[in-house]
Amino acid sequence: MSNFLIEGGVKLRGKVNIGGFKNAALAIIPAAILCKEKCIIENVPAIEDVNAYKEILTNVGAKVVMLDETTMEIDSSEIKEINIKQFSKNIRASYYMWGAGLGRFNKVTTPFPGGCNIGARKFDYHIKGFEALGARVEVLEDQTISLCADKLIGNRIYLDFASVGATINIMLAAVYAEGRTTIENAAKEPHIVDTANFLNAMGADIKGAGTDVIRINGVSKLNGCTYSVIPDQIEAGTYMLAAAATKGDIIIDGIIPKHLEPITAKLQEMGMRIEEYGDSLRVFYEKELEPVNIKTLPYPGFPTDLQQPMAVLLSSLTGDSIIEESIFESRFNYVDELRKMGADIEVNDRIAKIRGKGFLNGASVNAPDLRAGAALIIAGLVAKGTTEVNEIHHIDRGYENIENKFMNLGARIKRVVE
Ligand code: EPZ
Repeated sequence: MSNFLIEGGVKLRGKVNIGGFKNAALAIIPAAILCKEKCIIENVPAIEDVNAYKEILTNVGAKVVMLDETTMEIDSSEIKEINIKQFSKNIRASYYMWGAGLGRFNKVTTPFPGGCNIGARKFDYHIKGFEALGARVEVLEDQTISLCADKLIGNRIYLDFASVGATINIMLAAVYAEGRTTIENAAKEPHIVDTANFLNAMGADIKGAGTDVIRINGVSKLNGCTYSVIPDQIEAGTYMLAAAATKGDIIIDGIIPKHLEPITAKLQEMGMRIEEYGDSLRVFYEKELEPVNIKTLPYPGFPTDLQQPMAVLLSSLTGDSIIEESIFESRFNYVDELRKMGADIEVNDRIAKIRGKGFLNGASVNAPDLRAGAALIIAGLVAKGTTEVNEIHHIDRGYENIENKFMNLGARIKRVVE
């Protein structure tokens, strides 16, 4: 068991380089098995979820080699079938084995995926999409799910909610499906576009990714390619919010500023200064920040994955604010931990009312999940005294070198390995 010990009170200064986007890499890595030739994926983040996916692919017979720390070569020519008995409990994106497995073999059997405990996180839209393409879906007694089709045929699929996972899964399954598949009310997140760009680089015919209608014309063959994953907008947003909370002045480098517009807009509304330079942003504190209200929404709205760091920032200010979580029904599971640090937050269903007192106090807290864990680190950076963040395996799932990146910005944080 490891934890982070943080001495608060340092204003972050310096430059941080952002890695590849976790949620894009976790879709692109399984997408690579759709083709029988080698794919080289660059800018893969060095995080535990990627290691877990590497293991999933290796266990089904792919050869996965890291050419360097962030470049992964996947050769899936030897995979014969996808029949998986066990998944890591942590990784949600293992559900992309459904779309990729169906697309490649017309058949796939896996357990149900795990992931952060932030709501019911159902799969009905994924299933609806697979069935519309002609797959038969069966839940077996040992809690595995089996998907199988004689032939996948393109169809029109309307999603009741613009689900990220369902949009990507249907794209994966439809790449080889006969004729045209149309996904209506598709999710528009940057990793939808990134996954479609990767599939197109392999020879798929996908148009409209990034809008709410995606059209996929089935192709008969895909070829290997080299592709670079986009920068992680959530990692970048985490450092932006940390800069604001610590009254710092930092450069966030190697990003696509457009993907960060909802965070930039909200921070500017609060009084932070943000300057854009090509692929970097300077985020700096100039005057006392004002609290704002936030509602999480699908892209390009304020991302649910940054709701928790935002709650920390708002708790550290003086004044009242409201956060409405519209994506996941139980994503305020970190509030009890923040209360241990002196935060005054009242939660009613999907609404959190924050009465900022202008300070937080150091305490021993437990990270309940990935983003909440990152938020608690920021709370520790702001707090008076020492904060101990436990259960940090959640954070390692999705943030690469987080303590080194914060240390390079001047933070007093150390990993204690027991
Ligand atoms: C993806 O989760 C991300 N995970 C999440 O990031 C992110 O918070 C979320 O999208 C929203 O942006 C990955 O990309 C691996 P959804 P996903 O399907 O695909 C409901 C992180 O911290 N729904 O868009 O699971 C669902 O319950 C993680 O990096 C159904 O009802 O999100 C939720 O309320 C956490 N039925 C809403 O839709 C379905 O079939 C959005 O879920 C599918 C979803």
